[in-house]
Amino acid sequence: MSLPDRQPPRRRIAIGNWKMNKTVSEAVSFVREVSGALSGDHGIEIWVAPPFTALAAVAAALEGTRVGVAAQNLFWEERGAYTGEVSPSQLAEAGARAVLIGHSERRSLFGETDEGVARKLRAALDHELMPVVCIGETLDQRTAGDMEAVISSQIAKGLEGGTPVPAGRLVMAYEPVWAIGTGRVATAGQIAEVHRLIRDRVSAILGAEASGTPILYGGSVTPDNIVELAGIDELDGVLVGGASLKSDSFARIVRGLAGAAEIK
Ligand code: PGA
Repeated sequence: MSLPDRQPPRRRIAIGNWKMNKTVSEAVSFVREVSGALSGDHGIEIWVAPPFTALAAVAAALEGTRVGVAAQNLFWEERGAYTGEVSPSQLAEAGARAVLIGHSERRSLFGETDEGVARKLRAALDHELMPVVCIGETLDQRTAGDMEAVISSQIAKGLEGGTPVPAGRLVMAYEPVWAIGTGRVATAGQIAEVHRLIRDRVSAILGAEASGTPILYGGSVTPDNIVELAGIDELDGVLVGGASLKSDSFARIVRGLAGAAEIK
């Protein structure tokens, strides 16, 4: 596989995906703690993704800090009869500047498809929300030797919605389904292989200027494995679930990614 050169400067990104955890008051006290713990300049883009209910309060609590606010999902329509859904402009006004799209829990538990991912991607771009497109294979797919086909298809269908994606606006996250919440982290070799594949496919669809697209890894990232993960050349950052819920643990992951602190 021939790979396009990556464009410097390289971004390093850590996102805490809280999933369906934390009330508004819990969320606000958490971000106060974490933004204090991360006040130094680590050179890392730091994001938290609270539930919808806490977005506005978290955004207000983080104003003036280096920590950004991401939503965990969005709907592509602007308004209307879509009970239970949240529009891109509602998210933006609540203070979100990024959004997770196509997380595997959305796909497996709520029936999201690659076609839906493409529509959500377009909606996020139209509303200046940084899209974080999540892809990944199941264990059965990997065991059957289908990883490459699955990842390639998720990218092709998810990104080819007819919308040009401006360079620098997209973030991809590789989250093998078998590594999410299982304590079973992918190996460095597996991550490097898939991240190279993602970079190749994204560049093939979006053009060489997309070769610098940051590619995050997610799936059982912890303070104990972040140093090894941070050493993988193809990895630009991490999407962290369970270990992002405690401020100390999330701060250690950010510092580990930065290589700025010793992880004990
Ligand atoms: P985990 O979740 O870190 O708890 O494995 C990652 C994710 O689902 O984004």
